[in-house]
Amino acid sequence: MSDTTPSSFRPDLLAGQVAFVTGGATGIGKEICRVLGRHGARIAMLSRKEDRLKAAVEELHGEGIAAHHEVGDVREPDAVAAAVRGILARFGRIDILVNNAAGNFPAPMTQISPNGFRSVVAIDLLGTYNVSRAVFYAWLRDHGGNIVNISAPFELKGVALQAHVAAAKAGVDSLTRTCAVEWGPYGIRVNAVAPGSIEGTEGVQRFSDAVANPGPGSPLGITGHGSDIAHAVLFFCSPAARFISGQVIAVDGAATVDQLKLGLGRV
Ligand code: COA
Repeated sequence: MSDTTPSSFRPDLLAGQVAFVTGGATGIGKEICRVLGRHGARIAMLSRKEDRLKAAVEELHGEGIAAHHEVGDVREPDAVAAAVRGILARFGRIDILVNNAAGNFPAPMTQISPNGFRSVVAIDLLGTYNVSRAVFYAWLRDHGGNIVNISAPFELKGVALQAHVAAAKAGVDSLTRTCAVEWGPYGIRVNAVAPGSIEGTEGVQRFSDAVANPGPGSPLGITGHGSDIAHAVLFFCSPAARFISGQVIAVDGAATVDQLKLGLGRV
């Protein structure tokens, strides 16, 4: 996966800012790091797997982007607090938080064990709560900034093989709205991006492996790239979005709103 979409934003849009991306070492998270970094932000990432983190930091350094990693699990409040301290020690500020870390495996309800269900809710929903709260106290409360949560375009849908993920992401959407309301007075905007099917991601690969016919792409007739998600995140963090908070935007080529999925093409 690489940034295939040319940017419409000024290269110095985020100059002086620090962006903290959870789970930023691979997939969509890494693309978010790259795009925010290309627009001037210094990048901090947190994940469980140090080898992947090191490789991602090296890759970003190779592109001239200042990057730092912390090893830890978003499910553990103490590990999150330590990571936030580490980022502040390294970069001195955290202007942008992207809650991107997520767990996913496709399985019917009957085959999701209590631990499997709990693990995904703990990573996606509790993780978003843990990290948002830690960064709020450590920086955002006193300085303002942006939080962007990576959700899923599942709102008001029944989503086969994704009971645990859909429930967790519905919670993330709810948290997005509540944090926007409670933290707006601190100058913090909180929004969410809900990616559709994004080429080359582990999640999409697992899903295509699990079903015989993964279904049509999108009414736009294209599949998404990580950079499409990253540019939506960048927009939310830009001054152009100064009056936007508490919103969840699907970046999915209209797939979610396509009720009949007839694949008619031009009519
Ligand atoms: N089908 C059914 N159950 C599964 C599963 C699958 N494909 N993959 C994991 N589980 C279950 C495990 O069996 C375990 O439950 P059990 O203890 O009752 O057996 C539980 O989920 C936790 O799995 P484990 O791997 O031990 O825990 P973990 O906390 O390290 O990781 C996930 C859990 C979900 C994060 C892990 O499956 C994973 O790494 N997924 C890849 C991340 C990913 O896809 N990211 C993209 C997000 S869109």
